Amino acid sequence: MELNLAGKVALVVASSQGLGKAIASELAKEGTHVMLTSRNEDKLQQVKEEINSLGEGKVSYFSCDITKPEEIQALLQKTNQELGKIDILVNNAGGPPGGTFEKFNDEDWQNAFELNLLSYVRLVRAALPDLKKEGGRIINIASSSIKTPIPGLILSNTFRLGVVGLAKSLAEELAPYNILVNTVAPGRIATDRVAFLDQMKADNQGKTREEIEEASKKSIPLGRYGNPEEFAKVVAFLASDASSFVTGTSLLVDGGMVKAI
Ligand SMILES: NC(=O)c1ccc[n+]([C@@H]2O[C@H](COP(=O)([O-])OP(=O)(O)OC[C@H]3O[C@@H](n4cnc5c(N)ncnc54)[C@H](OP(=O)(O)O)[C@@H]3O)[C@@H](O)[C@H]2O)c1
Repeated sequence: MELNLAGKVALVVASSQGLGKAIASELAKEGTHVMLTSRNEDKLQQVKEEINSLGEGKVSYFSCDITKPEEIQALLQKTNQELGKIDILVNNAGGPPGGTFEKFNDEDWQNAFELNLLSYVRLVRAALPDLKKEGGRIINIASSSIKTPIPGLILSNTFRLGVVGLAKSLAEELAPYNILVNTVAPGRIATDRVAFLDQMKADNQGKTREEIEEASKKSIPLGRYGNPEEFAKVVAFLASDASSFVTGTSLLVDGGMVKAI
């Protein structure tokens, strides 16, 4: 299968750890030029060192808080200067805080909106002039909550659906430019975020994190958490020429966890 990712330019957002880092590594292995970004320059420098020699492509980094529009502009400029025109935009962000409805005030809702939905809108807007030139890919990272809400994660449950609505609309609007727009929804992939949420649940229920993890694995037909590399390979496929007739779709990577049809 020809992925044809070598020599393409990918901006992978929120890539200092977890899913974003795994996606950046996978693309780097394929020879893609990769721009890493998150708020933490030291972590980005470290990730660059780790993945630099995986493939022939160039790896750069630039620190950016994606809730700040002026920083997104600077990120795009830096990507163009260092790597050239963007072919692949992977939208990703940190998760919103966990909690149920009565925990959150307007400011919490506004913050989650800016981090988990508006940042994707702004990143698409900023990358669009590049993507329109020769076509490209927009891949949005969301959550299994796009299919079934996760108890205690009301902010995620709400804004991830906005990401799907955005992607579905963009898939149609941008199809004439051969820009394909898809959403990838992780179930439970073993990252710091998932460990943190399991610990939070354990504390609330007076259990250990291991007990929570074991119970959680029982709800996954494959009987385990996914690893970030398995998730990243799916994103790399959607970023590649191999997915040339796939747009507007939402793909779960969840080991069979979500039962909705
Ligand atoms: N792992 C899963 O199974 C799973 C399941 C469902 C949904 N998700 C969602 O998928 C996304 C990635 O998950 P993950 O597990 O990789 O999370 P993670 O390990 O917590 O990583 C989050 C990343 O987001 C970056 N980030 C946070 N706020 C940012 C900001 N304002 N500007 C720029 N970068 C920012 C962090 O970097 P810095 O701290 O360096 O800025 C970090 O690189 C999250 O939204 C998560 O909720 C994950």
